[in-house]
Amino acid sequence: MTLDFAPLEGITSRDFREVHAACFPGVDRYWIPFLSPTSARQLTARQLRELDPGPLGCERLVPQLLTKEPADFLWAAGAIAALGYREVNLNLGCPSGTVVSKGKGSGLLRDPETLDRFLEAIFTAAPLPISIKTRIGVENPAEWEVLLPILARYPIRELTIHPRTRRELYKGDVHPEAFRRTAEVLPFPLRYNGNLFTPADVQRAEAAYPDLAGVMIGRGLLADPALVVRCKGGKRDRAALTAFHEELAARYLRYMHPDGALLPKFKELWLYLSLLLPDDLAWKKLRKCSRWADFHPLALDLLENGVLTDEADFSRISQKSVNLLDG
Ligand SMILES: Cc1cc2nc3c(=O)[nH]c(=O)nc-3n(C[C@H](O)[C@H](O)[C@H](O)COP(=O)(O)O)c2cc1C
Repeated sequence: MTLDFAPLEGITSRDFREVHAACFPGVDRYWIPFLSPTSARQLTARQLRELDPGPLGCERLVPQLLTKEPADFLWAAGAIAALGYREVNLNLGCPSGTVVSKGKGSGLLRDPETLDRFLEAIFTAAPLPISIKTRIGVENPAEWEVLLPILARYPIRELTIHPRTRRELYKGDVHPEAFRRTAEVLPFPLRYNGNLFTPADVQRAEAAYPDLAGVMIGRGLLADPALVVRCKGGKRDRAALTAFHEELAARYLRYMHPDGALLPKFKELWLYLSLLLPDDLAWKKLRKCSRWADFHPLALDLLENGVLTDEADFSRISQKSVNLLDG
């Protein structure tokens, strides 16, 4: 079973992925946050930089596309194949309002016939194997029963399921029964994603679904960047955590203004990292900082000297913060 780092748009950038892999070995693959191809038929400089395999190499990266246009998908898949990748992933999960209203991401699940036509067009002409990451419906988990036979028609390289509907965003419980049902019905390798926050959560998923190809971990790895190290029997190393934080900041400072783009990036990161602290007092101080020069020493002191608990406390992610991050 492999342990993958989920794509988190705006957070798990190329710099983030490379620095994380250097400080916390053990993640099998890093997924590149979605790329939206357009009819312009040209990758932007930023997209090219994100897709450049760099030191991780194509084998440890999964590029992902978000579109409802078969021609745009196929063009971008060709560009991805030319870069040396062996798989391209289709995003059927993004719950963001602007994406869904355009019929993309989880919005493609709304109309099963349109989805079927889209899949037929891309699977017929794809220049490389296609994997899919999906939710189980838009409004109601019962929609999954209608979607399953459609997915069953295509040679999906691997199916990652986040067993929530679009309406549920990232909140509340997942629907384990929908995942179990998929394992009974679909012949493809399956990957489980959703609310894996501790090594015990990962073990439970492995035990619950014995034929799993692997799991994908998102927010759990943001809160505890050593989560996969710990899943593989290692310990969280404070020096590695500090090195990760400092190297990421150093890389971002090459092209971000400290009080402009960098500060909100690190506040978003600390929204999760602060779940390792015993309470929210330090987080409240961090989020009030309006200058990197104030934020940075506070953050560094917490990493070097703060009390860090064994498990991140996800009950403290406030609804407001979750809504801010829905993407
Ligand atoms: C800020 C943010 C950005 C995300 N960006 C993407 C993305 O680009 N592609 C994608 O498939 N899922 C994206 N997701 C969903 C995650 O990959 C993952 O499915 C979700 O966080 C649930 O897994 P978790 O409970 O392990 O965090 C994003 C989620 C968040 C919170």
